[in-house]
Amino acid sequence: MLVLGIETTCDETAAAVVRLTAPEGPGEILSNVVRAQVEEHAAYGGVVPEIAARAHVEALDGVVAKALADAGVAIADLDGVAAAGGPGLIGGVIVGVTAAKALALAGDKPFAAVNHLEAHALTARLTDGVAFPYLLLLASGGHTQLLAVRGVGDYVRLGTTLDDALGEAFDKVAKMLGLGYPGGPQVERRAQNGDAARFAFPRPMFGRAEPNFSLSGLKTSVRLEAERVAPLTERDVDDLCASFQAAVVDVVANRAQAGLRLFEARFGRPSALVVAGGVAANGPIRRALVELGAAYGLPVVAPPLSLCGDNGAMIAWAGAERLRLGLADGLDFAPRPRWPL
Ligand code: KG4
Ligand code: ZN
Repeated sequence: MLVLGIETTCDETAAAVVRLTAPEGPGEILSNVVRAQVEEHAAYGGVVPEIAARAHVEALDGVVAKALADAGVAIADLDGVAAAGGPGLIGGVIVGVTAAKALALAGDKPFAAVNHLEAHALTARLTDGVAFPYLLLLASGGHTQLLAVRGVGDYVRLGTTLDDALGEAFDKVAKMLGLGYPGGPQVERRAQNGDAARFAFPRPMFGRAEPNFSLSGLKTSVRLEAERVAPLTERDVDDLCASFQAAVVDVVANRAQAGLRLFEARFGRPSALVVAGGVAANGPIRRALVELGAAYGLPVVAPPLSLCGDNGAMIAWAGAERLRLGLADGLDFAPRPRWPL
């Protein structure tokens, strides 16, 4: 199956062509074009929905054309067209869904509306052919969830964040330290030179049985310390980043462990621990999860960095998995700003 996937739920305009050959994967990525809107939003310290939607309108035609050209295929060669149907910023979602419907209609191809979170959840099958069931830590700017992934369309949420998402915490800390947007990569870079032991930040929810997260208290602690130490030197910023990131790493490892325990109690042994979403790009977080997996004798699968952030390949793959099972959507599908898995 050859599927074109379109992603426009946040601040990346992306399209890709992916081939599904084996049911569990891995799949083949024929093209993967991502146009990030970093410059459009940089001045505001975050994504501005209206600006994002307009930028998607301007970029999408070119991004889709390049995805098809890079893959060396035409619409006629496809077995389906998929778009992220939500959750996300509704203006952007409408742009991507409308384009995908139009291409599907013009080419007489089936259309699949993919849940953006489902696409993150299934990416490990595209890259590594991970078999069901597995434990997924999905950690992005908008979402932090531990999910039991039991099949296409069969997801059980074991835990989530009670306040901020993991990526959101990185972004907010970066903003308060004047590091710009998106914050995760900046905080990670500054943490490399910092002293992680200088500030003793809290580890919220650490040790709790239910695998939930809470990050706003940690974020507030960073703000209070930054205000106490101000004016901040470069050294202070490095140390604040290192100490914050160390707290996050401890929390993530501990919460993932709680997730593994709950998974085993309810569903038996998972085939793998999978981490996805933009925060999965963080080196220390990845290393902590690899250690955890090793302690449990479980493979830890983290998609390559290019597939951690939002991209079209994950949408195309999830679309292919759905279409293979006959789960096409009608052209009357309504984009969904909220769409829990
Ligand atoms: O999945 P994603 O690209 O977009 C959605 O939110 O859906 O995730 C973006 C988030 C941002 O909050 C960004 O700061 C965070 O992922 N992120 C990171 C790193 N790279 C990206 N967080 C920590 N460390 C990183 N290296
Ligand atoms: Zn995402």
